[in-house]
Amino acid sequence: MKKIALGVCSSVSIYKACEIIRLFQSEGFGVRVIMTEKATRFIDPYLFTSLTGERTIVHLFDDQQRPIEHISLVDEVSLLLVAPATANLIGKMASGIADDFLTTFYLAAKCPVLVAPAMNEAMYLHPQTQENIRKLKSLGVEFVEPDTGYLACGKKGPGRLAPPEKIVQQGLRLVRAKDTFRDKVVLVTAGPTREFLDPVRFVSNPASGKMGYELAREAYQLGAEVILISGPTWLEPPPGVYLERVTEAAEMKEAVLKHYARARVVLMTAAVADFRFRKTRPEKIRKTEIERTLEIETTPDILEELGQHKGQRLLVGFAAETGQAVEKALEKMKRKQVDLMVANDVSQPEVGFASDENEVVLLWPDGRSRKIPRTSKRKISQEILAEVEVLLNERKSKR
Ligand code: PMT
Repeated sequence: MKKIALGVCSSVSIYKACEIIRLFQSEGFGVRVIMTEKATRFIDPYLFTSLTGERTIVHLFDDQQRPIEHISLVDEVSLLLVAPATANLIGKMASGIADDFLTTFYLAAKCPVLVAPAMNEAMYLHPQTQENIRKLKSLGVEFVEPDTGYLACGKKGPGRLAPPEKIVQQGLRLVRAKDTFRDKVVLVTAGPTREFLDPVRFVSNPASGKMGYELAREAYQLGAEVILISGPTWLEPPPGVYLERVTEAAEMKEAVLKHYARARVVLMTAAVADFRFRKTRPEKIRKTEIERTLEIETTPDILEELGQHKGQRLLVGFAAETGQAVEKALEKMKRKQVDLMVANDVSQPEVGFASDENEVVLLWPDGRSRKIPRTSKRKISQEILAEVEVLLNERKSKR
């Protein structure tokens, strides 16, 4: 099992380490906790031992069976994350002081190191702390900036431990990033669009954005710069991803075209509404005044236009169909000139629109196909991006 070492210092935010452990475990990682002695004044090590199933390490000389454990553990972990990290710990790391297990382990570690500070705002902004952070950054240590808000001391300012989801996302990127995606821009569209008749009425569809947000999250973890163009949804954007919100198809097209020049990969999961009203009204139409027949027109087909100016880009389309999904998706793949088409039969209630799971068939222009049976949208995203990686590498080797 892949494993991370989680260094935990004395801070009121120490309880958030429990959530960090849970998030890493849900991604298939084992966690070994290393506490500073002062941290044990806030939480008993037994809590972390219970959560991780592994003895929490505090002192250098705890384990009589493994006398130089700080060295042997180095080969077992793929990331050292310190969260929360105090000013004292950051200062010791910057100066190379190794006087306990955590600082000794830091000096011995060969894996990436990520630090999430948590402290009083004056301590965080102190030139000495900032100098220590700069020095560690120059040595390759990465930081998760603390949030600004109310601190344990009652003051307001920067110093709150960043949210666990943000810390874990950055940690996973350090562990999972691939050369194929590094320095590449991946553009993702997600969610529905809404085409308004008047300020209170619109046509749309049940897309939630889940599929696109999962793809954006996965692309970020693989090391890409991710631009997410999202229609209306209640979802929180994945940390680290640049988000642009739009409402109508025309706005989505404008946003996509704005970023298209920089994009290397485009993943069009958005369920762009196919129709809009020919005439729209700036004020709410009264029930008694509404016309019995409303004229509609088609919205611009964004993907089709992207296909006509593809260049070196890799286009991934989605086709939401109710029946004969593969046949219809094949036709769209050809017409829109995409490199990988994801056929999505949305007639089954447990998959497709708004659900956490999906079942899709991947189609390639050379006639290959691959079914991904029902599974989470997160897993489907991992499979799709693994295929995108193959396509990117194939193109690279052909050049
Ligand atoms: O958001 P979720 O709730 O997680 O649901 C996910 C999903 C079901 C929306 C997603 O998996 C999916 O199938 N998305 C494609 C939906 C769709 O609009 O399919 P389509 O067959 O109408 O369009 C084909 C392709 O052309 C799509 O990539 C679409 O983004 C694009 N398109 C469509 C119309 C249009 N005017 N412009 C476009 O670019």
